[in-house]
Amino acid sequence: MKIEQIFANNQEWIRTKLNDDKDFFRKLVMGQTPEVLYIGCSDSRVTAEELMGARPGEVFVYRNIANMVNNTDLSAMSVINYAVSHLKVKHIVVCGHYHCGGVRAAMQAADLGILNPWLRSIRDVYRLHKHELDKISDEEEKYKRLIELNVQEQCVNVIKTADVQKAIKQNSLAVHGWVFDMSNGTLKDLKIDFDRILEEIMEIYRLI
Ligand code: CO
Repeated sequence: MKIEQIFANNQEWIRTKLNDDKDFFRKLVMGQTPEVLYIGCSDSRVTAEELMGARPGEVFVYRNIANMVNNTDLSAMSVINYAVSHLKVKHIVVCGHYHCGGVRAAMQAADLGILNPWLRSIRDVYRLHKHELDKISDEEEKYKRLIELNVQEQCVNVIKTADVQKAIKQNSLAVHGWVFDMSNGTLKDLKIDFDRILEEIMEIYRLI
């Protein structure tokens, strides 16, 4: 994609938006009230807003390699804090995707330099669920399941934060784990049983 093309596309986008609603940009300036925080992978094929059919102002977005929610990632922690405590989002979604290069890399024995500590967290997910994963003999199926379990563990990491625990207690927030299947475009809700998971972990992670 040529850089010049991007600016031409931008002008075309402005025309389209103003055609639909002449006050479109005036409304954007007035502020945002998104109800969803979307945490997804940086992968260029997984276009957060486009695959959800969301318009500007509807979704607060945070993306990184393999949709990770790391305790020491100041950016992720700030995004969650701002979304929950200030924007008062009603939903936090962690959305993984099949064919994720980050998860694939974490399944292989390779020194990837600065990526090692980032991907190490995915290896930790593998270790946590080794019993289940080792029973899957088909490598592609195992890869898919690790992607799903990584989404589940990142949802758990979301719930480990104080802001989220407070909002859940007030019944104002729900956490969801999704996977995007790029082979057919489908967004799948993993229907993670958070009640069961929370029962198991809250004894250790409860902050409030
Ligand atoms: Co990915």
